[in-house]
Amino acid sequence: MKILLTGAKGQLAKAFIQYFDQHNIHHVPTDATGLDITKLERIRTFLRGQHFTHIINCAAYNAVDQAEKDWQRAFAVNGLGVRNLAVCSNEADCELIHFSTNYVFSGEKERYTIADTTDPINKYGQSKVLGERFFQMTQKGYLIRTSWLFGDGTQNFVAKLINWSQKEKILRIVDDEIASPTYTVDLVQATMELLQIKAFGLYHITNSPACRHEWAELILGEINWNGSLSRAKMADFNLPAKRPKVAILDSFGLAETTGRVMRSWQEVTTEFLRNRY
Ligand SMILES: NC(=O)c1ccc[n+]([C@@H]2O[C@H](COP(=O)([O-])OP(=O)(O)OC[C@H]3O[C@@H](n4cnc5c(N)ncnc54)[C@H](OP(=O)(O)O)[C@@H]3O)[C@@H](O)[C@H]2O)c1
Repeated sequence: MKILLTGAKGQLAKAFIQYFDQHNIHHVPTDATGLDITKLERIRTFLRGQHFTHIINCAAYNAVDQAEKDWQRAFAVNGLGVRNLAVCSNEADCELIHFSTNYVFSGEKERYTIADTTDPINKYGQSKVLGERFFQMTQKGYLIRTSWLFGDGTQNFVAKLINWSQKEKILRIVDDEIASPTYTVDLVQATMELLQIKAFGLYHITNSPACRHEWAELILGEINWNGSLSRAKMADFNLPAKRPKVAILDSFGLAETTGRVMRSWQEVTTEFLRNRY
């Protein structure tokens, strides 16, 4: 294996790098400065003569609220960037691994399988759908949807909540938003199992579902926060982007392919916090 990793400063990329280091897998990490995925010719030149076996795309525009105004940038990175990688991975005859989100769905149906049709309700979701459409031209590819990703990073809910808890005595967290927290380490392991058996296709990979409030309760308990946590509703916060209330990704197809059953959100959150804090 010789793997090109894009968006290598992001949280998912960091978990891949840790896995590759542990397993002695040859990889080339690139960030937005070294390899901007919106630049088709740059990627072509970068790949020439390199004989990569896989490209793992961890590059993304993930600022959900900002994307409402800055949608052209979101569409460029999450849409055209994926087109560029699809074109170049086909030309270089290597496998492409790309990640999408539960925000490609509205939440109307609440639980979604890989057979469901996308119906995004915000610009970020639209940009990821665009990426999924472009991804369809990939000859050897894995498209993996995930949700509420957390791990070694600062832009995820766990890190943000801990940061808020250090500044505030009272926190209000919504109890009507439900999805599945996903530990980057588990997502990497499940992805690598698919790669090992060349099971190209579409997958949903997450840990088990939780509501935002119960997830916060467990996190704050683990770090022994002595403030007060109260309940709120999504409607209390006037955020620029609409979000699906309940968007659970059903993992049908994963255990059937690799035998992997994903762990519970409680187990992975506790494991992450005990190792980290
Ligand atoms: N985070 C979540 O909760 C979540 C949920 C569902 C799905 N996902 C998906 O999972 C994947 C990994 O997400 P993540 O949380 O690891 O993301 P992340 O931590 O935000 O990392 C994304 C990285 O991509 C880089 N990047 C942005 N534009 C780029 C460009 N044009 N070329 C190359 N690199 C670029 C960013 O650099 P800068 O910081 O310098 O811009 C950042 O380092 C993404 O596809 C994401 O959409 C994430």
